[in-house]
Amino acid sequence: MSEIDDIKSRLDVVEIVSEKVRLQRAGRNYKANCPFHNEKTPSFIVDPGRQSWRCFGSCGIGGDVFSFVMKTENMEFSDALRMLAHRTGVELRGYKKNESRDSYFEINKIALDFYKDSLMTDEAIVARNYLKSRGVNQQSIEDFDLGYSPRVRDSLKSHLLFHEVDLEKAVECGLINRLDDGNTRDFFWGRLMFPIFDRSGRPAGFGARSLDDSMPKYINTSATTVFDKRNTLYGFHKAREAIRDADLGVIVEGYMDVIAAHEYGYKNVVASMGTALTAEQVRQLKNLAKTFVLALDQDAAGQEATLRSLESAWQIFGDSSRRSQDPLFAGNPTKINVVSLPEGKDPDDFIRTHGSEWEKVVRNALPLMEYLIPVVSDRFDINSPGGKGRVVESLSPIFRLLDPFDTEKYVGMLAEQLSATSETVNAALKQVPRRPGSQNTSIDVKPEFENSNQVENTYKLDEYTLSLMLNRPELREVAIQIDPECFIRTEDREIYLKWLEFDSDESLFDALDVVLKERFSNIQKYSIVPSTNTDILIDFNSCANRLERRRLQQYRSDLIQSQDIESPPSISLQSELGNLDKKILETYTSDS
Ligand code: UTP
Ligand code: MN
Repeated sequence: MSEIDDIKSRLDVVEIVSEKVRLQRAGRNYKANCPFHNEKTPSFIVDPGRQSWRCFGSCGIGGDVFSFVMKTENMEFSDALRMLAHRTGVELRGYKKNESRDSYFEINKIALDFYKDSLMTDEAIVARNYLKSRGVNQQSIEDFDLGYSPRVRDSLKSHLLFHEVDLEKAVECGLINRLDDGNTRDFFWGRLMFPIFDRSGRPAGFGARSLDDSMPKYINTSATTVFDKRNTLYGFHKAREAIRDADLGVIVEGYMDVIAAHEYGYKNVVASMGTALTAEQVRQLKNLAKTFVLALDQDAAGQEATLRSLESAWQIFGDSSRRSQDPLFAGNPTKINVVSLPEGKDPDDFIRTHGSEWEKVVRNALPLMEYLIPVVSDRFDINSPGGKGRVVESLSPIFRLLDPFDTEKYVGMLAEQLSATSETVNAALKQVPRRPGSQNTSIDVKPEFENSNQVENTYKLDEYTLSLMLNRPELREVAIQIDPECFIRTEDREIYLKWLEFDSDESLFDALDVVLKERFSNIQKYSIVPSTNTDILIDFNSCANRLERRRLQQYRSDLIQSQDIESPPSISLQSELGNLDKKILETYTSDS
């Protein structure tokens, strides 16, 4: 993943935009008055699914988080990049490090070492015994840097002061509490400590388990500049490679589950730390593998909160085929399977008692829908009046995200489960009112051209087009006519824009941001089939047409999605669509 992709994966365009304009929910999108021109009715749309924004009013521009920041802050790409890298904690190679954030990690590291050492003290015998009773071996204790926070009041504080740590910063790290009277106090004491690392393996926060029956069982660092439970997965930095290698990731709930799995050699396991899977967590995972297996708590599986989190997980996972810029994954949507463990066991218990059976369980995980249909049906008395309807209603948000073939399959399965016909189930599904915020399917938001084969080639098309123009100066005249928004990736768009400014490749290269230089060189090296100049021109024209067509099609689909779903398409919308269709058609006819 490039640094830019990394930064984007940690940002939410909705959040960034809402810092500048007041967004209102509109179906699955958000609406606002366009910040770039004066208007009374909102025509500025933010699409969280594609992480993009666009004005459908008079300025007609659109883009991603980067271009939004560049426009609103009036920044060059390099400055926006640095600012967003800072904000997301992504380290840019070739840039000076951010000292303030670094110092948080350093303080956490000092605390981590202190807790680790404390695990060896006499007092910590309870913690060591506890770990033994749970079957956690010495290797795991070391691998996961487990520790113990002493009961002695303010032992960490003294330790930090001894290391000349600025206590104010330790407060900002969540290690030290500031009380109302101004005094400071250790936040964690008398607990088993689980350091939580960020994606780069830096200690960002801590989870802490009580060693007696005191409640809450676990506490964790509250949100800080460097730690937010909602976008962190426990074990991620240790699991990333294994998830890639296996092309399979397993998502469990708890610290202890991850530790047990890794101890038994199943290193592709991460934990959501008890919360329902968040969109940010899903985003971090989705490009690593094709299949994810959720180990769900049996009791939670049919519950509304879980269904919603599955719905959002699926929405993002499923979307990866369209959004992914990696041709390896494009057109290859992520699969979500669900594991159910026997008799309310969690993965920790299961792995420690059944060992390699775990592999079988993971392998036999059921596709989400197959898992949910019986679970949800069991939750309601399907023989009571309205019972079947409630089952359909609970499942309907996820049904809406299925493609037509899967819909047919699972409608059939649900019909069988409910002893009804597919026609009845279909009719019942149609009757379920849409929840605000769930995907709207009442108008055709997926025009036929959005098929996955085409997506598979999109990113190659950008690369190929750029490589042609970088290598063949004679194409300049045609190339300058390309709309910058044709390029999907932020870095490609920037390279293109810079290329427009410069005549020679050398001065262009010098002017590029460090991060773009690498991409530039790669594109330049892209092997081009040798051909005569006329062929190249024809070829390039066809590339330019395809880029333009793709841009128009995307615009068209965004435009449809931006419409108020309740009202019928307006005359002006219809005529605009007509114009777009004409333009799209032209990109075919001008192809030779
Ligand atoms: P579990 O109760 O399943 O925890 O909660 P666990 O890891 O299996 O722990 P043991 O086996 O009881 O020791 C799952 C996760 O939910 C979060 C923690 O991240 C935990 O690992 N959690 C749970 C909390 O944050 N607070 C709590 O009070 C409980
Ligand atoms: Mn457990």
